[in-house]
Amino acid sequence: MAATKVLVVDDDLNIQRVLVFTLKQEGYEVHVASDGQAGVEMASSIQPDLILMDVAMPKIDGYAATQQIRAAEDGRRVPIIMLTAEADVEQRVKGLRAGADDDIVKPFHPLELIARIKALLARSGGGPGRKTQEKVTLGRLACFYGAKGGVGTTTIAINTAIALASRLGRKTSLVDANLQFGDMRVFLDLSLDSSSIVNAISEPDLDGELLKRLIISHHAGMDLLLAPPNPETADIVAERQKNDPASLSNILSLMRKAYDYTLVDMAKTIDDFNLQLFDESDVIFVVMTADLSCLKNVRLVLETMDSLGYERNKIQLVLNRSNAYTGINVDNAESALGRKIDYQVINEYRGAISALNSGEPFMASRPDGPLGQSVSKFAREMDTIFAEEAVPARA
Ligand SMILES: Nc1ncnc2c1ncn2[C@@H]1O[C@H](COP(=O)(O)OP(=O)(O)OP(=O)(O)O)[C@@H](O)[C@H]1O
Ligand SMILES: [Mg+2]
Repeated sequence: MAATKVLVVDDDLNIQRVLVFTLKQEGYEVHVASDGQAGVEMASSIQPDLILMDVAMPKIDGYAATQQIRAAEDGRRVPIIMLTAEADVEQRVKGLRAGADDDIVKPFHPLELIARIKALLARSGGGPGRKTQEKVTLGRLACFYGAKGGVGTTTIAINTAIALASRLGRKTSLVDANLQFGDMRVFLDLSLDSSSIVNAISEPDLDGELLKRLIISHHAGMDLLLAPPNPETADIVAERQKNDPASLSNILSLMRKAYDYTLVDMAKTIDDFNLQLFDESDVIFVVMTADLSCLKNVRLVLETMDSLGYERNKIQLVLNRSNAYTGINVDNAESALGRKIDYQVINEYRGAISALNSGEPFMASRPDGPLGQSVSKFAREMDTIFAEEAVPARA
């Protein structure tokens, strides 16, 4: 089934970015025009199922653009929501007179916007991909990237997923994106013959239903998309992503649609596959420990992220084994990096190792132990931030 197409007409890059993000995670196909003129042209070439129209824009403003779109319509009437700067009755009336169906005042909460869009689509007969019965998910994508091998990236990703699912009631999935040496099967005591990301990325018509069948439910509450069972099949995934990045995008957007959180445990390489994961994620948790070689790597990672043009708060530092004695404390680490450590997980060798040996993560077997509590706190803090992100107001 084709996705519902939404055309965003807004000249403000920040608003564009937030709208694209919010709409994509709802499973909409999003197109963007940066001025009224381009909006009018795209409304005719793309034939969207709904338009979000800013009021104040260069070239022609939102009222004029709406009028022109209406004038050019021939039978089919596209629903238009005006994005107004203030709750001014005169502005609202002007918008409605120009032909808008609804309006929403900036700043708005994403959930309100989505509710308005759904209501309007339902009133107007809806887009092709409309599924009004489906529960709306938060649709967040978070990568876990180790600044160095063995710092605890997989441990934190797995146990955070369990905390989000079992303690916070979030629908959570975990993707093992260590293509060559994914070890989630070992951590979670799973068999080698289970389906994996190879099956998902090789499927030309992958949709939500099919993906569901390739995902494994873990008894601790989260769902898993596993890594390839061996390094040879890992190459299939890397090749497929290289030749058709949309295949990976499709998996990620289906996961966003189905889950509140999709956590991705990444390998340390900086290759095309990982760059796409970085690009598409909402946040990158860089897992580190407080030792010199790790600090050096974190600096390099931060520089790389900077050169990729990512906003500073897309990268969050997670200090693992924060209370282990390394000779470098949190303050030292922060001043060496010139930025703050965002989260800390304590060191508890016994808890971690016995979980690893038993194939049962500590968040499932001993959630109230010191390590369980520490990861729970991290999950709670991350959930507070990501569940409550609002659309920024226009400057
Ligand atoms: N907070 C912690 N306290 C004590 N031990 C920990 C902690 N976090 C991880 N460990 C232990 O450190 C080891 C490495 O952890 P893990 O495999 O999660 O790291 P990784 O960064 O994913 O490694 P790799 O680079 O191999 O993917 C494991 O034995 C794990 O049990
Ligand atoms: Mg790992």
